Amino acid sequence: MASITIRNLDEATKQALRERAARNGNSMEEEVRLLLNELNQPQPFRAVSSAAEVEPHSIDTSGLAGKRILLIIGGGIAAYKCLDLIRRLRERGAVVRPVLTPAAEEFVTPLSVGAISGDKVFTDLFDREDEHDIGHIRLSREADLIVVAPATADMMAKMANGHANDLASTVLMATNKPVLIAPAMNPQMWSHSATQRNRVTLANDGIHMIGPNAGEMAESGEAGIGRMAEPMQLVEAIAKLISPIAEPKPLAGKRAILTSGPTHEPIDPVRYIANRSSGKQGHAIAEALANAGAEVILVSGPVAIPNPKGVETIRVQTAREMQAMVEASLPADIAIMVAAVADWRSADEADEKMKKENGKGPDSLKLVENPDILKGLGHHKKRPSLLIGFAAETEKLEKHAKAKLKRKNADWIVANDVSPEGGVMGGDRNTVKLISNSDIEAWPTLGKVEVAERLVQKIIDHFDVETLEA
Ligand SMILES: Cc1cc2nc3c(=O)[nH]c(=O)nc-3n(C[C@H](O)[C@H](O)[C@H](O)COP(=O)(O)O)c2cc1C
Repeated sequence: MASITIRNLDEATKQALRERAARNGNSMEEEVRLLLNELNQPQPFRAVSSAAEVEPHSIDTSGLAGKRILLIIGGGIAAYKCLDLIRRLRERGAVVRPVLTPAAEEFVTPLSVGAISGDKVFTDLFDREDEHDIGHIRLSREADLIVVAPATADMMAKMANGHANDLASTVLMATNKPVLIAPAMNPQMWSHSATQRNRVTLANDGIHMIGPNAGEMAESGEAGIGRMAEPMQLVEAIAKLISPIAEPKPLAGKRAILTSGPTHEPIDPVRYIANRSSGKQGHAIAEALANAGAEVILVSGPVAIPNPKGVETIRVQTAREMQAMVEASLPADIAIMVAAVADWRSADEADEKMKKENGKGPDSLKLVENPDILKGLGHHKKRPSLLIGFAAETEKLEKHAKAKLKRKNADWIVANDVSPEGGVMGGDRNTVKLISNSDIEAWPTLGKVEVAERLVQKIIDHFDVETLEA
């Protein structure tokens, strides 16, 4: 009876029903039964105040039409969800080309994946038919986006370490397209330090990730974080990455000045005083601010990493040059002083290379203090409304950072322990405390990109509150 009714519905209603059923994990018939049941229940009065309440999935997925998605299915229990994912993507006009790992073939068959995708399923790196024209490179380049779902612990490890020993991992190494992974695994596997290390590496490599969600595992009695994101969550994440429909830019209209990296203080034309700062943290924050819509000027000391995307980068050598460029870039709404500026410089920079003279010991190096860029901004007549300093300490982190906050007239200090055993200087991870006059927040160890994103979210929240209070 219900199936006859569905067949007679108009296309738009049928589509809405199909999506609703998919979201609730029901068949269309079951969904109709539920709807009819709901109608029979006495309804409390409830005013609908926004479109979001009517449609819980608020992201526009219409931009998926005509987009090409290479879907790499890994060997996990959640592989079955990919059949539904493929249907949802195709309903929106996307073209889905599946790649199965050998392990995935144990969970779903190429036959069912091929039938649902309507495309050839790729499984073998050394396929004689496809590889006559280096098919794995073509696969990696013809897509608009590569999605790995489920991304197994094994697949994440391979990706993080650059393996290329089967079709999926080779395609992932060869691609120049954005990659989204949807991890799915047992909660112990997810929380294992190796998986967490790989997660941070992948985030730093610019791999996008959705989930895993918390919930029950297929294994009886186990629950925790490790469930693959639901197909409709994946569809929305894919639409967000793939379609040009711009997300709201919460920092649009704000101007930010950042410093990053070390400074080099010359002793003579070939020698200089420096430190181990790599610039990775400052550059990541600059890029995250630009992604949030801010106009960003980055004054960077000498670093070996590329300029961040969407950011005006000014390269300098010394603390004095850095200060001059920072002050010349005022006014700004936000200033974040991340650079490890040398506290001292040589008092008498030699014009010529200093010579070793036989029999005479080394000259002692006389130092003078460099300008304090953060303090200068804290007391500047054009002081940015949000001034953030970084404090790299090797001992008494909180005490020193709090003193710095006061002395420099900053709003927040991001304090990190840079003792050599922590590997922060030059490394990819950071463990920081965000210190303000009223609060100390200790953050877990995160990748530098994650620290950047979290700090930028704090900045967005700060300006939201300011707007509300104004
Ligand atoms: C029944 C069964 C279920 C599995 N489920 C998962 C899983 O959900 N997530 C995961 O990371 N590995 C899971 N594994 C282990 C992977 O299949 C195994 O690591 C495999 O090498 C992954 O290969 P791939 O990453 O190339 O797909 C499972 C293994 C078995 C036998």
